[in-house]
Amino acid sequence: MIRTDPETPDLFLTPVEDVFIRNHLGPHPRLDPATWSLTVEGLVERPLRLDFPTLRGLPHRRFTAVHECFGNPLHPTVPTRAVTNVEWAGVPLAAVLELAGPRPEARHVWLEGADTGDFAGESGLSYLKDLPLDQASAEVVLAHTMNGEPLHPDHGYPVRAVAPLMFGTNSVKWLSRIVLAADRPDHLFTTRLYTRVLPGESETRPVREKDVSSKLLTPVDGRTVPAGSCELAGYAWSSTEVTSVEIAVDDADWRPAALDRRGPDPAWQRFRLRHDLAPGPHRIRCRATDSAGRVQPLSGDRNAVHEIHVVAESGGRPSEV
Ligand code: MTE
Repeated sequence: MIRTDPETPDLFLTPVEDVFIRNHLGPHPRLDPATWSLTVEGLVERPLRLDFPTLRGLPHRRFTAVHECFGNPLHPTVPTRAVTNVEWAGVPLAAVLELAGPRPEARHVWLEGADTGDFAGESGLSYLKDLPLDQASAEVVLAHTMNGEPLHPDHGYPVRAVAPLMFGTNSVKWLSRIVLAADRPDHLFTTRLYTRVLPGESETRPVREKDVSSKLLTPVDGRTVPAGSCELAGYAWSSTEVTSVEIAVDDADWRPAALDRRGPDPAWQRFRLRHDLAPGPHRIRCRATDSAGRVQPLSGDRNAVHEIHVVAESGGRPSEV
């Protein structure tokens, strides 16, 4: 079930009501925190069943991270640009794994949600993802709070996994089961969909770390704006820090935009550039580069440069929202 996306607002933190919702398996489960529990099983010394008050009572971590949908897994190179920036709070997965005691043979963490249903011709599915144990222990948080409020039911209430450096597909909502295993699970959402071959590579790998990307939010795509000095602005993000953003108006050369530093959290970074818009229609593009040297491609992939179109009018007023 895919909800039509609201327009991404040009704010550092995205209000919860503007965060996209992606459910692969139909209506979301309505979970009651009074009866919800999270099991930790498989290759562990002490299998666990944690209730909500126990999990909520463990020390938590608060951080801001880009929350980005990879796109439709059946069309993995098509840009969808569903992206937001959210403050999460929750319990580091490492703290829960420490209670369970992973056995030495455990290599992978499987994360399963409570939702079940059909997708892409397969029925009776659960939503299952997996990550290497070391990476999951270092990065994943079991979030119970989004922008300072309990998780909204659409976003995984009462507890979801959040993998802050990865695409949203890895952040399992309505988390109900964690399994430690020696191998990856063979499943529609782990080994069959959400896989890709990165440019310059030959092996298929799971969709995990975010690509370098950027989105122009001001002016708003498709609007009429007053001609003259105009701020071109938006956000850039990646699994590592973005080090530069360039903007091109029409057929002019790429020019560097001012760019905020990322800070300790993997939040998105604001960029801006003042430009004199002559009356008439304009195409405006933005292109980010990250500290790993990755650059957004001009076309052909899901993170291709973002392009907007506006019309500048002399003495004109911005068109109504
Ligand atoms: N978790 C469960 N249990 N079921 C799902 O369908 N969708 C995933 C991920 N976690 C999904 C899930 C996908 S594809 C994305 S992009 C994010 O959740 C979206 O999170 P959101 O709906 O809170 O924005």
